[in-house]
Amino acid sequence: MNLVSLIEWAEGYNRRGLYSPIGVGFHWLMAALMFFQLGYGWYLAWLPAGGDKLLGYQTHAEIGLTIMALGSLRFFWRSQISGPKNVEEDSFQGRASRLLQNWFYVSFFALPISGWVMWSTLPGDLPLSIAGIVPFPNLPFDQLSEGLQHTLMQWAAKAHLWIVWITTLAIPGHAGAAVLHYLVMKDKVLPSMLDLNGPEMPGVLGSSTDEGSAA
Ligand code: HEM
Ligand code: HEM
Repeated sequence: MNLVSLIEWAEGYNRRGLYSPIGVGFHWLMAALMFFQLGYGWYLAWLPAGGDKLLGYQTHAEIGLTIMALGSLRFFWRSQISGPKNVEEDSFQGRASRLLQNWFYVSFFALPISGWVMWSTLPGDLPLSIAGIVPFPNLPFDQLSEGLQHTLMQWAAKAHLWIVWITTLAIPGHAGAAVLHYLVMKDKVLPSMLDLNGPEMPGVLGSSTDEGSAA
């Protein structure tokens, strides 16, 4: 299957008000990684300084870089398809949900980049990789003065913490709104991210070719 037919297949789900299994897979895999990463980051911040903490941050950094790699693939994928339309785009709900979703996409890059800046100013030469597989370099900050490295560390730590907080607060808002849609509005918003049923629209790949012949 080439990219064009893959997109057409995914659009079949979108026309039924659903995310495709690719969108659903990206969503829940990345949501799980973000939950873990936020919890583990707070745990590491609380650990006393020492070898375990640095090793822990190495794992933290590698999972964060994996989130950035997955986020790039997901962003590309999302830019190719229209997505399901279950909420009026110009309504308050539509704008608010888009704002939160866009923020999550920003955080998939801004957290790893600010983390990478911090990591590159830390002493020690533990290597980095994406998911423990693809080697990832440090920024060449060891050539900078100690003062400048310290300033960079402080700015990056401040940015990391702000983005962590905004994301931590945005997640219950996002998940809560999805549950509210399910319980109160009883619409397709939450099922769109859970339902993996195949497309059953006439003319869509994997469906009967026209309504009449399906009878
Ligand atoms: C989506 C990815 C990430 C999430 C959700 C995340 C989350 C967190 C959290 C919750 C903390 C503790 C609170 C804080 O001190 O800010 C933290 C700290 C930290 N993170 Fe991340 N992080 C991510 C990616 C990264 C990456 C890719 C790196 C390194 C390459 C990194 C390096 C660090 C460092 C060095 C700290 C310690 C900051 C300090 O002690 O001031 N993070 N992160
Ligand atoms: C239990 C927790 C969660 C629930 C119930 C949930 C539910 C949903 C639902 C129903 C949608 C579709 C909304 C629509 O199309 O209007 C959605 C989209 C989205 N969610 Fe979540 N979500 C959860 C956690 C997360 C987390 C932790 C993140 C990342 C930090 C996240 C990021 C996104 C993004 C970026 C989209 C937009 C999808 C796209 O078009 O690419 N979600 N979520």
